[in-house]
Amino acid sequence: MQNQSSEARKPVIFSGIQPSGTLTLGNYIGALRNFKLLEDDYSCVYCVVDLHALTVRQDAAQLRARCLSLAATYMAVGLNPDKSLIYCQSHVSAHAELAWILNCYTYMGELSRMTQFKDKSAKHADNINSGLFTYPVLMAADILLYQTNLVPIGADQKQHLEITRDIGQRFNSIYGDVFTIPEAYIGKVGSRVMSLQEPTRKMSKSDPEETYISLLDKPEDIRRKVRRAVTDSDGDIRFDFDNKPGVSNLLSIIAALTGEPVERIVNELDGKGYGGLKARATDCVIATLEPIQAEYNRIMADKAALQAILDRNALEASRRAARTLDKVKRKVGCAPHGKA
Ligand code: TYM
Repeated sequence: MQNQSSEARKPVIFSGIQPSGTLTLGNYIGALRNFKLLEDDYSCVYCVVDLHALTVRQDAAQLRARCLSLAATYMAVGLNPDKSLIYCQSHVSAHAELAWILNCYTYMGELSRMTQFKDKSAKHADNINSGLFTYPVLMAADILLYQTNLVPIGADQKQHLEITRDIGQRFNSIYGDVFTIPEAYIGKVGSRVMSLQEPTRKMSKSDPEETYISLLDKPEDIRRKVRRAVTDSDGDIRFDFDNKPGVSNLLSIIAALTGEPVERIVNELDGKGYGGLKARATDCVIATLEPIQAEYNRIMADKAALQAILDRNALEASRRAARTLDKVKRKVGCAPHGKA
């Protein structure tokens, strides 16, 4: 675990992923791989946001299992739980407490403009609960609790980061500099990985199997899904998202995973046709996921050790979160125990 002085010197990163099923290649390219890139230069807090997952109905045992599985995935991509704090959101009660206070500084009007709320309430029309509505406030609490400087996210979370900044600035303008105002870190390539079947829609774990690649997919599944990915009929390999979303999506997946510029990939694939493009994309995905899967299986084989890491990190996260929460409570007039 980080010692306090190195923790104090480095700027802070916070990010989270919901344990709501298998992670997709979109989660990996848009968020997770950036978590690792930034690990050495920041004091990092990577949370399994199980309270957010409750906004849609969950089976309790399955949710608990998914929390462990997501924490193992964080570690399988190389995050080091002795450097980065990896823990479950529900184990640190400060998240929910700060969310309540911030709810009182957030307007109905601004929450109703959130596109994710509109999308999710259309998808879950039978369960439009108020947690779904105030979801961005809990996300703001997650981030603001740790005096976060940078938040690595995919493009779909940009609006939530903007409302986080608005809420933080509003609070600061009333009470002084309580919160650090965070910036988004959105990768230049792959911040919006698209569905393999409907490449104008975001790749999402809540869509049917064939539309996304799971981080735990076997090579034969990856081969099949990429082979069936929707392209177009002109046969020309070039990056043009408006007119060729399927081809452009595969090109950005390759670019994100290899670090090569799109133009070079296009040149290399000259004359190879869509078969060549898909073969290249398949190879890159398999080469990326194979070592992650091996590491994931190794970590999941000792769940007691994994749980012990999460427990230990949750204690440290609680300690850090309490510093901000205590300050906020004092500012709003909720006195600490015994000091009323
Ligand atoms: P979630 O769990 O939906 O997604 C986790 C991360 O993956 C990114 N992502 C994508 N990036 C590129 N292409 C895609 N197709 C794709 N799909 C998902 C998301 O942008 C996200 O970065 N509200 C958040 C979780 C959260 C959070 C936070 C994030 C809660 N508190 C505080 C950052 C900071 C969410 O639902 O992400």
